[in-house]
Amino acid sequence: MKTVGIGILGLGTIGAELARIILENAPRIREYYGLDLVIRKIYVRDLHKKRAIDTGSLPLTDQADEVVSSDNIQVICECMGGSGTEVTYPLVKKALELGKRVVMSSKKVLAHHGMELLELSRKNKAVLCYDATVGGGIPIEKVVENSFYYQQISKISGILNGTSNFICSSMSLKHQSFNDALKEAQKRGYAENDPSDDIDSYDALYKAEVLALCCMERIFDLASVTPRTIRGIRNIDFDLLADEGYTIKPIISMEIKGDDLSYIFGPAVVSITENPCSGIDYNNNIITVVGSRSGELSFSGQGAGKGPTASVMFDDLLNTLLYRNSSVLYNGVKPFQKLSEDNRALYIHLKVDDKPGEIAEIASILSRLEINIDKFVTRGKTGGSYDAFLFISKTDNIDRESLTKALKKHHVRILSMIPIVLD
Ligand SMILES: NC(=O)c1ccc[n+]([C@@H]2O[C@H](COP(=O)([O-])OP(=O)(O)OC[C@H]3O[C@@H](n4cnc5c(N)ncnc54)[C@H](OP(=O)(O)O)[C@@H]3O)[C@@H](O)[C@H]2O)c1
Repeated sequence: MKTVGIGILGLGTIGAELARIILENAPRIREYYGLDLVIRKIYVRDLHKKRAIDTGSLPLTDQADEVVSSDNIQVICECMGGSGTEVTYPLVKKALELGKRVVMSSKKVLAHHGMELLELSRKNKAVLCYDATVGGGIPIEKVVENSFYYQQISKISGILNGTSNFICSSMSLKHQSFNDALKEAQKRGYAENDPSDDIDSYDALYKAEVLALCCMERIFDLASVTPRTIRGIRNIDFDLLADEGYTIKPIISMEIKGDDLSYIFGPAVVSITENPCSGIDYNNNIITVVGSRSGELSFSGQGAGKGPTASVMFDDLLNTLLYRNSSVLYNGVKPFQKLSEDNRALYIHLKVDDKPGEIAEIASILSRLEINIDKFVTRGKTGGSYDAFLFISKTDNIDRESLTKALKKHHVRILSMIPIVLD
């Protein structure tokens, strides 16, 4: 029988559930694998705070270093993340320097420091697992590690943020306003009090960076990308698009083009019948990868929540004890050279003055920029104006800045401008 000392950092929603799973399953793991899993220390800020688990018999400490540096702890499970990002990074770093096995939950820490932490883990013969950082219960890191040794992943797309997907689905399927859908997401615990990171797509951006690292062995400079927000999308957009066979989803899409990255981070118009994201509603996630031999593979499921997330962390814990002696990434990580947003096709919602020649003027602005109008629809003529919806495209990327400038110069109000996913 081999005893394995486990340290847990953070005892919030995920930490408490993980501790419960470890305690419940320890007898079976002892019997099946001859491993005695023992929780040696759990770091919390407040020793007396009421928790989602009975802490009476748990070894709590308010000294994080006792968890990370202890000689009788071999595996560190990091369940802090979020507001604890600044604190989390140095703790994970130290654990890896000491050669420990680390199971991480924080996508933000990994997105900012992933390459350094993975290199550190290799240098020190430590192991870093991070399946819980992306896609909740979807075990994407393990799938990629176990099934993609011999092939390249050239494209990753999907829905990685349950909060914004819940809002888009509620607006589209239940005709709720943006504010009502957000309030309901908050009431159900899917959205935080300050939901900015979710609805402004930063959460998805961090996860995209983790996926680029894990699946493509590439990274991009987070600071050079501004993800797009779902704020400002209206019910009328969903209604109009549904009539045309489309919907809006909060997506990430990353495609390797040579040494460059073509991306979408934020809301995108997708075909209801052809895009795998369209059937993934409410708080569910989907991750689609395109492998050089396997072709397109999609994995979907609950993207967050204590059960799915803590289960994936427990799988990581067992995996690192039973099968893994190193961190993924075999060939070294390369940064992408150039990053460009995929703007080959756009959906635009405009408020147009109801006066003669207005549409002709918009058409001529687009024509001067060599942009094709694939479809033009109008709705809701009231009070001297109406809503105009354009589906536009160009053989190369549309320069959104020049287009916006030209339309604004002509005093046209742009209500939304959203990329259309073509392939
Ligand atoms: N919840 C989900 O569905 C989900 C899904 C995927 C990944 N994750 C990731 O899992 C991690 C934990 O999430 P959670 O939902 O369990 O969060 P949570 O309920 O807020 O718990 C966070 C824990 O970290 C501690 N903590 C926070 N800031 C800290 C700081 N500055 N210094 C020390 N300790 C600090 C908290 O301490 P106190 O108890 O003292 O406040 C708490 O124990 C995050 O990285 C999150 O991104 C969560």
